[in-house]
Amino acid sequence: MLEPNQEKLDALLGKMVGDLGAIATGAAVLLGDRLGLFATMSEGGKMTAGKLAAKTGTQERLVREWLSAQAAAGYVEYDEASDSFYLSPEQEQVFANEDSPAYMAGAFEVASALWLDEEKVRKAFHSGKGLGWHDHSTCLFRGTERFFRPGYNANLIESWLPSLDGVVEKLKRGATVADVGCGHGASTVLMAQAFPNSRFVGFDYHAPSIERARAAAEEVGVADNTRFEVAAAKEFPGKYDLIAFFDCLHDMGDPVGAAKHVYQALEPDGTWMIVEPFAHDQLSANFNPVGRIYYAASTFICTPASLSQEVGLGLGAQAGEARLREVVASGGFTKFRRATETPFNMVLEARP
Ligand SMILES: C[S@@+](CC[C@H](N)C(=O)[O-])C[C@H]1O[C@@H](n2cnc3c(N)ncnc32)[C@H](O)[C@@H]1O
Repeated sequence: MLEPNQEKLDALLGKMVGDLGAIATGAAVLLGDRLGLFATMSEGGKMTAGKLAAKTGTQERLVREWLSAQAAAGYVEYDEASDSFYLSPEQEQVFANEDSPAYMAGAFEVASALWLDEEKVRKAFHSGKGLGWHDHSTCLFRGTERFFRPGYNANLIESWLPSLDGVVEKLKRGATVADVGCGHGASTVLMAQAFPNSRFVGFDYHAPSIERARAAAEEVGVADNTRFEVAAAKEFPGKYDLIAFFDCLHDMGDPVGAAKHVYQALEPDGTWMIVEPFAHDQLSANFNPVGRIYYAASTFICTPASLSQEVGLGLGAQAGEARLREVVASGGFTKFRRATETPFNMVLEARP
């Protein structure tokens, strides 16, 4: 074995200290999220550990340790003079304000599913059977909803739908829309609120997600122009002006079969909107902070999910536009373009 270069080893160890800190603090973020510690801190003002514990019905000594961990991470601020803690306006956006486009706390629920389900994923590495989306811990389903919703709030109505040719005009007039692989229906509900003349159907093969989506639509008062049904991407019924796939095509075992089904389910001048994780076509071009998150999630969630279904194409969360174009073209579509993008997503438009 070659002798390690001491300078390179020190640099790697330095990086590992930071990464290990992120992992450990991540579990603490989840704790603070679930105990309502961030939410209570966001009510404003400096708080001692005692005050935060009293307000949240928790143990002061444990809260003090949690606050210290968060302050050491730079996730909360500490005022030495008053021995109290507070959220800066930026920290409030990231950890406490679920409506903010910068909200990240939901992502930690997704991250926790990677750890909780490690044993199941380990088995999939040997079995070749993959691991279904539905076989994961429930925190994945809720975490996905909470992680993705801020991005949808910030982009879907304002920029993604307008980037598609003629779609917003149709939605304003009154269109039929299918949101396939809709999960908890965050995107469906948002579109239904923005376009009351249109009718939206959310489909997902995961029955508990469909139940949650129905409840979410009731909660925000869009039950009249939404419907949620359990159906797989190759089987959903109906004809539509717009069919949307939000962050789910790559999770499917047979995305080509799904593309063929979408083709016949679209009106002749309809649009297939495919939102996928942002990725470059070349593997090494994705060796960046966003690609790092996606490849890890894809190892535990997306790729095993695809392998668990028929065909098991295993696109992975970093498939890239060129590979997705092939899938879409195999479904019969002749027009395909990248309509817009964000650092986390690509919005692709396919038309017959
Ligand atoms: C990453 S989640 C995205 C959920 C939702 N679109 C969102 O953006 O919040 C992927 C979704 O695809 C669904 N899914 C996976 N394979 C499917 C299939 N073959 N047919 C329908 N839905 C599928 C899963 O149940 C899951 O809800």
